[in-house]
Amino acid sequence: MSADPTADPRQDYDARRTRCPVHTHAGHVTAYGHPEVLEVVTRPELYSSAVSRHLQLPNGLDGAEHATLRALTDPYLNAPAALREIETVARAVMRELLAALPRPATVEAVSDLGARYAVRVQLRWLGWQPGREEELLAWIDENRRASRSGDHAWTARVAEAFDAIIRAELAPRRAQPGADVTSRLMADPGLGRPLTDEELVSILRNWTAGDLGSLALCVGVVLHGLATRPEVQDRVRQGVPDAELDAILDELLRLDDPFVANRRRATVDTALGGVPVPAGTVVHVNWTAANRDPRVFPDPDAFDPHAHAAANVVYGAGPHACPGRALSTLELRVFTQELLHATRTLSLAAPATREQAPGGGYATLPLTLA
Ligand code: HEM
Repeated sequence: MSADPTADPRQDYDARRTRCPVHTHAGHVTAYGHPEVLEVVTRPELYSSAVSRHLQLPNGLDGAEHATLRALTDPYLNAPAALREIETVARAVMRELLAALPRPATVEAVSDLGARYAVRVQLRWLGWQPGREEELLAWIDENRRASRSGDHAWTARVAEAFDAIIRAELAPRRAQPGADVTSRLMADPGLGRPLTDEELVSILRNWTAGDLGSLALCVGVVLHGLATRPEVQDRVRQGVPDAELDAILDELLRLDDPFVANRRRATVDTALGGVPVPAGTVVHVNWTAANRDPRVFPDPDAFDPHAHAAANVVYGAGPHACPGRALSTLELRVFTQELLHATRTLSLAAPATREQAPGGGYATLPLTLA
């Protein structure tokens, strides 16, 4: 791991992919190339998602079980009515955050804006106690430090602390169900029975713990992209259709994908890009490297939202592709629209520092809003 806070892990991923799109290290295989990553994630008959010993719903399931759980949970994240509710919440939260900021102001865009926005929207959407905002912000920070440390005991303690927060939200709803999303999920009869507490904790953990940090990192990448591309910033500030803004956001994330990697386990002896993969091998897919593969994006650093859209894998591919894509895109769109509407310029106030592997994007991004 590099000690230089401005060192960009993408350079390392690019170099590895150029040397060989598939690497083997200490019995693990990592796919860095775009075709190889797609091969892993679109062939569940060769690569299982059951990698963790913890219950992971829906991401640790395969086949029919996985499809059943996705059918139950996806509508909470991407049904048009759900998205309308989230849009109202997201706009209100962003306006509150902006109203509280003096102008001109220098902010730390990842934690002061991105993480706070993600947490506040999520708390209101799920109907959780507003008082949990500081607790969840502190949790995101500790989770980041724990995963960077490589200390598994610390990571496990941090994960348990999050599960305790979720259980504390479930308990009062058992006694008195409300109308919020959490209560609706608890009463969902989609499996022919209510979900168990363990299942609820796992699903809600995926909607929150896994994604609050990702959304904050996405905010950092998007704002860095806009601050360093004033012409794009101006065009968006003047107003572009939602679909065009969404394509711009996806492209900024493709260039510098902060959601770096996921895992699978080979279920049969197979080969990937010519590298033998014995049954049982853990295979990592590096989305960040795949999104910059010149075999698919001939000029990977070029900003070209339309030409690059079809092959963009920021939100994954295959049966496990992100069910939160519409929700995240909506949150990022609302964030960007409101911020650009409320400012004349946003520019870097100081050099950004990079999040170090296994994370992606920026750890800190000092921005001046005027
Ligand atoms: C913030 C930006 C986000 C990015 C870049 C992102 C990216 C991804 C990617 C690449 C996958 C595929 C994982 C794999 O193949 O193993 C995934 C899966 C998933 N994402 Fe997201 N995600 C984001 C936000 C969200 C949000 C906000 C939610 C929910 C509220 C969410 C829920 C999930 C779930 C439940 C899965 C597992 C799906 C499955 O295994 O079937 N994501 N995400």
